[in-house]
Amino acid sequence: MNANLKAAGGQSDFASLKGRVAIVTGAGQGLGRAFAKAFAACGAIPVIAEINAAKGEAVAKEIADAGGQAFAIATDVASQESIAAMIEAVERRYGRIDILVNNAGIFSTLDMRPFDQIPLEEWERVLRVNVTGPFLCSRAVLPAMRRAKFGRIIHMASGAVTMGRPNYLHYIASKGALAGMTGSMARELGDTGITVNAILPGATFTEIERKTVSPEQKVRIVAQQCIPRAETPDDLVGTVLFLASDSSAFLTGQCLTVDGGATHR
Ligand SMILES: NC(=O)c1ccc[n+]([C@@H]2O[C@H](COP(=O)([O-])OP(=O)(O)OC[C@H]3O[C@@H](n4cnc5c(N)ncnc54)[C@H](O)[C@@H]3O)[C@@H](O)[C@H]2O)c1
Repeated sequence: MNANLKAAGGQSDFASLKGRVAIVTGAGQGLGRAFAKAFAACGAIPVIAEINAAKGEAVAKEIADAGGQAFAIATDVASQESIAAMIEAVERRYGRIDILVNNAGIFSTLDMRPFDQIPLEEWERVLRVNVTGPFLCSRAVLPAMRRAKFGRIIHMASGAVTMGRPNYLHYIASKGALAGMTGSMARELGDTGITVNAILPGATFTEIERKTVSPEQKVRIVAQQCIPRAETPDDLVGTVLFLASDSSAFLTGQCLTVDGGATHR
């Protein structure tokens, strides 16, 4: 275990992750960045498949500076060609793809507005990136995962879908779709060694400011949780690593809510 990376937020309890190649889409900031660093801390190689090339490179450098391995490659998950080029580069470099975290999403840049005021183009763009992106990425990793008879696909959905949160219906629709896709994909892949699960985080506060939670809402959100403190990226890392590890081999088709106990089911 690399102590520098551990200090940077990694966890080391998942020995089976050593040497695994983990594509984390949208890992240039926020949750994806935390996941990439955590994979590297376990000796896995995160592939930072991020549309913002400079941010992706910066995360890869953070990991390299801390003694880990990472590969940043500019990728637009809304583009089949861009995904194909990323997969080809990963295959050429490492000859394997073990884990896919469908994390990229239009999220922190979203404006809140009633659904009758969401422009159609914005609706379509959110669904394109947040739903079609994971669909295309999941399809693209299947040949490598089938070959290895092993794979872990993890969708980042959202606890917001279970709460009826208003004013970003395109986002809610996209995350509801991802949750629905999880069980169907898991069933289609059940005999392949590939598992498919989703994480439904509560409102999680990263280094990125966003307009979807006001300071007053943040206080209300924390008050609804059993664990009365703000959720941070590190609160999700353990669940991601577990779902990516060999230890979760018999767990598939599940939506795991990680929200400090704000909701129960
Ligand atoms: N932070 C939260 O409270 C929270 C809660 C529930 C779910 N989520 C989900 O978790 C994921 C990460 O959240 P976050 O807070 O880090 O979001 P974020 O908005 O800070 O980061 C999203 C990342 O995805 C990248 N991205 C956007 N479009 C892309 C594209 N077409 N191709 C590749 N990369 C692209 C962005 O450049 C950015 O680096 C998102 O899917 C989000 O919906 C977040």
